Amino acid sequence: MITGGCGFIGSHLVRLFVKKYPQYRIVNVDALTYAGNLENLKDIEDAPNYFFEKADICDLKRIAQIVRDFSIDGIIHLAAESHVDRSISDPLVFAKTNVIGTLSLLQVAKEYWSQSEEGYKGKLFYHVSTDEVYGALEMTKPKGDQFGKGPYGELFFTEQTKYSPHSPYSASKASSDHFVRAFHDTYALPVVISNCSNNYGPYQFPEKLIPLFINNIRNGKPLPVYGKGENVRDWLYVEDHVAAIDLIFHKGKVSQTYNIGGFNEWKNIDLIKVLIKTVDRFLGHPEGYSNHLITYVSDRAGHDLRYAIDATKIYKELGWSPSLQFEQGIEKTVRWYLDNQEWMDRVTSGEYEKYYSQMYSKR
Ligand code: NAD
Ligand code: TYD
Repeated sequence: MITGGCGFIGSHLVRLFVKKYPQYRIVNVDALTYAGNLENLKDIEDAPNYFFEKADICDLKRIAQIVRDFSIDGIIHLAAESHVDRSISDPLVFAKTNVIGTLSLLQVAKEYWSQSEEGYKGKLFYHVSTDEVYGALEMTKPKGDQFGKGPYGELFFTEQTKYSPHSPYSASKASSDHFVRAFHDTYALPVVISNCSNNYGPYQFPEKLIPLFINNIRNGKPLPVYGKGENVRDWLYVEDHVAAIDLIFHKGKVSQTYNIGGFNEWKNIDLIKVLIKTVDRFLGHPEGYSNHLITYVSDRAGHDLRYAIDATKIYKELGWSPSLQFEQGIEKTVRWYLDNQEWMDRVTSGEYEKYYSQMYSKR
């Protein structure tokens, strides 16, 4: 079972598993909130080993039924409310989905697996989390090592870093991580957790920085840069994240945490300049054509200054490292959004939300 499979990262993970593991039945459980888009998985929706269940992870009865019906032995849990700005305006839904939803899944997994003949043998609950649970890092090297790219400090988030979440989003994810560990420590539920840095790539909802800005540059719309654009994020191509999840699911040690990151720190403003340059080049505009779209706006409340992951553990223990250079990843991403304007138009117009009733509800 993969939860949240019609969202950004979940859709890449479902596609990878459906194609790579024909021997598995992949059950995608997603409530199809505004962030869930069935069209993200159009290319694999008819695969014989793929099943979609529209369900809310807080609905204990429904989740228990799905787990029983499909004899689920592995859960990779991604379903969540994921946007920091939304968590600032509506924190309650973050507590409900991210905390109560995760707790509901844990409860079903514990009940169903502990009562099965083999018990917990061969079972795994994998919780996908974020580096934002660790809080924010200082910028001790404001200029980084080279223009446009960090590292911007000596300190990084490791698996031992104490949790210190600031936004309602990161607080809800931190809480869910604690519940996952509590179920291991209290009930011996086999769990594993990964905490990843900012992802980018195809199929990301255009409320997040990279797809929003690519679309706005294309349409000549303002680019709202929060504060001075000095905040630093560590960016990872989404397919590298799902490759890490695949590895951890199959080879990771039970009860462990793995940090996943790109070793790729960028100040927002420098990243935005790369986006402008790349989109302008692909559209045949002269260099600097869209620079005037940069618009500094009020800072996000409680805006974390810097995130940076130390991914040494997963590299040393499981041999994972990012496969793409950032410059390649950004080119691929910009190219994808420009080539898939119809996907973007259906998301921004809300048309995508009709796909379920048109295609699925009758199945
Ligand atoms: P997303 O917002 O694109 O997708 C979330 C999915 O969860 C959607 O399909 C939505 O319909 C579904 N969902 C929401 N509430 C639900 C509910 N109550 N029941 C069932 N389904 C529900 O998110 P994403 O960016 O793909 O992130 C996926 C996971 O990875 C999240 O747990 C997030 O915290 C984590 N993560 C994201 C990033 C990132 O950069 N995007 C980085 C690290 C970790
Ligand atoms: P975002 O994509 O929302 O991811 P997160 O907040 O989880 O890191 O934002 C990435 C960075 O870009 C973050 O520092 C906030 C900033 N940002 C802007 O400056 N303007 C915007 O319109 C958005 C959405 C984000």
